[in-house]
Amino acid sequence: MKLGILGAGLIAQAVATLALKNGHEVMVSNSRGPQTLGDLAASLGCQAGTAEEAAVFGDMVLVAIPFHACRTLSGASLAGKVVMDACNHYPGRDGADAALDAMTDTSGQVLARQLPGARVVKVFNAIMARDIVPHARASSASSASSASSASGATDRRALPIAGDDAAARRQVAAFLDEIGYDAVDAGPLAESWRFERGMPGYCIPLRAASMARALQAAQKGQRVPDGSWRGPRELA
Ligand SMILES: NC(=O)c1ccc[n+]([C@@H]2O[C@H](COP(=O)([O-])OP(=O)(O)OC[C@H]3O[C@@H](n4cnc5c(N)ncnc54)[C@H](OP(=O)(O)O)[C@@H]3O)[C@@H](O)[C@H]2O)c1
Repeated sequence: MKLGILGAGLIAQAVATLALKNGHEVMVSNSRGPQTLGDLAASLGCQAGTAEEAAVFGDMVLVAIPFHACRTLSGASLAGKVVMDACNHYPGRDGADAALDAMTDTSGQVLARQLPGARVVKVFNAIMARDIVPHARASSASSASSASSASGATDRRALPIAGDDAAARRQVAAFLDEIGYDAVDAGPLAESWRFERGMPGYCIPLRAASMARALQAAQKGQRVPDGSWRGPRELA
């Protein structure tokens, strides 16, 4: 599989690392052009391109950029593709948005409207970038991950996903399983507020059953204090 990534920052590098370990081809991109990505691409062992080139390159595409930049993306090259959306809305960085703050809209729906025809799946937004590689427990015997574990195993962390295309959600769940995570399917993008910033499952290491309970326990407007999810925690 070819994974195109819009972004070359913390999330992009972590997901690229796991995709490459599992035998996929990766192209990263940024806002300044591939000439600024030579050292990074060489150290990861992937390709670098423009954002447009990464969108065309990917069988699947990961969007891992500041949320405000999502509002300027163009979707022509992404129509029909599974687009994994890792972006979170942080008002201090991205600007105030009353509907997102009230959770009557979600950042995933904003991206889906920006990219007509793209099969957007919210994923990787509810895990700290620094945890993505060390918390992975890939099931593949051929995986170069330091730890391995089967789907549903007690040492496996779960990540919540949401999207309006059920087949796209299954494809993302299969990718997560391959790189070392269980998926907990929250349903359509309109439900993705359940694992946005400050919700009970946001950036907390949880097994699948605990994540499913956290999604159910989420209540609109009841966010935990910003940053309270950052401390070290055991898988629960
Ligand atoms: N860091 C975390 O722990 C974490 C966890 C979950 C979710 N997230 C979310 O995931 C997203 C990415 O976070 P991050 O920590 O990886 O950010 P980051 O380290 O700041 O990297 C952002 C990347 O996006 C690139 N970029 C900006 N505009 C772009 C555009 N129009 N096209 C292509 N690339 C563009 C930047 O390139 P330039 O340097 O050229 O501007 C940079 O490579 C954010 O929405 C964040 O809220 C982050």
